[in-house]
Order: sequence, then C-alpha cells, then structure tokens
Amino acid sequence: MRIFSGIQPTGRKHLGNYIGAIEPYVQHQELGEAIYCVVDLHATTVPYEPARMRESVYDTAVILLAAGLDPERCIFFRQSDVPEHTELSWLLASVTAFGDLNRMHQFKDKAGAQRDLVSASLFTYPILMAADVLAYRAQQVPVGDDQRQHVELMRDIAVRFNARFAPDAETPPLVVPEGAYREIGARIMDLQEPTRKMSTTGGTEQGTVLVLDEPKTIERKFKRAVTDSGSEIVRSPEKPGVSNLIEIYAAVRGIGFEAVEAEFADARYGDFKGAVAEAVVARLTPVQERYSELRADEARLEAIFAAGAEKARAITSQTLVDVRELMGVGPRSSTRL
Ligand code: TYM
Repeated sequence: MRIFSGIQPTGRKHLGNYIGAIEPYVQHQELGEAIYCVVDLHATTVPYEPARMRESVYDTAVILLAAGLDPERCIFFRQSDVPEHTELSWLLASVTAFGDLNRMHQFKDKAGAQRDLVSASLFTYPILMAADVLAYRAQQVPVGDDQRQHVELMRDIAVRFNARFAPDAETPPLVVPEGAYREIGARIMDLQEPTRKMSTTGGTEQGTVLVLDEPKTIERKFKRAVTDSGSEIVRSPEKPGVSNLIEIYAAVRGIGFEAVEAEFADARYGDFKGAVAEAVVARLTPVQERYSELRADEARLEAIFAAGAEKARAITSQTLVDVRELMGVGPRSSTRL
C-alpha cells in the first residue's frame, strides 16, 4: 500500500497536528510505502515572510524527524523540489469544477481572514493538494478531520480525470485515494474555545498547545482550559471542553474513552487537567529534546530533502509521462528522448 501526506511549514506546529497527523505518519511508516512532504508551495497562498520560509520548512521537517519519521524508511522531501506537483496541478485544473472549489470551507475561512489580497492560489490550493497525492497514485492519505473535504475533492478529480481521458482503460491511470482518519484524535479542539478546532491561525493563543512549548507553558494552558458546568468527567455534546480533554488524554495514552472515564470517575476537574498536562508533557518532551539535537544541522536536512526528492521524482516523472500522453500534451511518449 502506498501512503501520502503533506504538512505546511511552520515551527508553530500544535498538539492537533501532532495527534491528528504527525503520530499517524510515524505509524504509517510500518504499514506500507510512506511518502511525506513539507508543502512550502501551499504556504505561499497566504501572506508570509519570504526570509522566514526556509527556516519554517526546516523547523517543520525537524519536528517530524524528532517525532520518529525515518528518511531511510519513508520518502521525505520538500514539495517545491519536485516540480511535477505544480505541473500536474495545472493539468488537473482542467478536470476540477470551479463550483467545487467555491464550496471549500477552508477557502472561505481563510479568504475571510485576509485583509488585503485573497490570492488565486488560495482558491486553487486544493488542486495542488490533489496533485500532491495523485502524482504518487497513493491509496491512503492520513490527515486530520479538517481535511475531509479536500480529500473528497481529490477523489472527484481522480474519477473525473480517469473518465475523461481513459474511459476504457482496464487499470485507471490515476488511483482514487482514501482519507485515513484516526478514530481518536482526528479533531483536537482549542482549549479555550472547545467548539473550534485547535489551530495556530484561527484559534486562541492560550488554547493552542505547541509541540515546542515549554513544559510549564503546557501545564499552564491545560490548567486554564475551559471546562463545563457540572463536575463529571464524561464525554457529552453539552461538555465540549471536558470531551476534548478526554480525547487528548485517550489519544496520547493510546487508550479508549471508557478507560479514561473510568480512571477519572472520582476525580475533580483540576486533577484531571493536571493529569492530561502531565501525559502531554511526557509525550512531547522526548520530541523536544530530539528537536534541539537535530535542528542546527541544516546541511543534513538539505541532504535528506535532496535524497527524498530524487526518490519522489522517480515516481512522479512516470505519472506525468502518462498524464501528458493521455491529455495529448507534448510529444507522444514513444517519441520522447
Ligand atoms: P496542515 O499543515 O494545516 O496540518 C497538518 C495536519 O494536521 C492536521 N490537523 C489536525 N488534526 C487534528 N486536530 C486538529 N485540530 C488539527 N489541525 C490540523 C491536518 O488535518 C493535517 O493532516 N492541506 C494540508 C497540507 C497538505 C496535504 C497535502 C495533506 C498539502 N498537500 C496532501 C495531505 C495530502 C494542511 O493544510 O495541513
């Protein structure tokens, strides 16, 4: 099985990213051929600081390596080093419905947050994301719950491409991928506003736990987490704050919701919050330690990216030969040198 996922470059990766995506990336390395990239091109769709971009890519790459991604066991690279992603993105735009792009929640949220320019690339972002995955003919895409709509769209794009350009093919040229969502932890909420997802762009500062936060900061954020009326530690739609803390604890400890509710049946909110903070700190401390060890060696990171891009291009160049051929773009593949 081939697995693909991407992550945006920022050193401010949070607990939602960690639980919803980074941990699953590490686990998926065992399940098949895993391919991961830091999507720097996606990060240009909203205002950003060019001088900080490369640093942010390194920061993110090192968080992934520190969490357990092993470049010997997976293909790990920087998106912009593999130009087939952007070429395929353009080609797939011809089988992407404008109306579908117009319905994307993420576009509406992000466009609404822009003060000056709403870029065209923010609108076409999901096509590049589809190209990321379809270029590898990957079967599974481990992501958090907030990416469901984007995964649905990439499936539609693959189906439409196959129907339009290879209606009679026995083996369709593009694989229609499936999203892979964690049963527990696919949607971690903001600790201050537990009806909103944890996010560094749309969430609250105090409600967002960063992977690189100091243990004291993590403890403080959990101590101040919003809980709900009542005193019972149980999951319920009326208790979004407590339900979120139960979800975090369950995900980090690798146990079920019932086990958490049983463990804290007689506990008070304060003690429970302390226990969640402790579990999160225990989980993140080794990642932070490895991060400090690995971050300085940027030459090594560039070497990892270069080796990853070479392996990635061995796959994507073949997909692009097939796609160009089917679309009638460029010379026939049999006459290509
Ligand atoms: P990004 O960088 O915003 O987020 C990285 C991953 O973290 C997940 N995530 C969460 N999971 C649980 N709870 C949360 N509160 C939470 N917030 C974020 C996201 O679902 C994501 O899996 N568009 C993608 C990047 C991308 C991509 C791809 C992903 C580009 N190309 C191809 C998969 C395949 C994004 O913005 O992720």
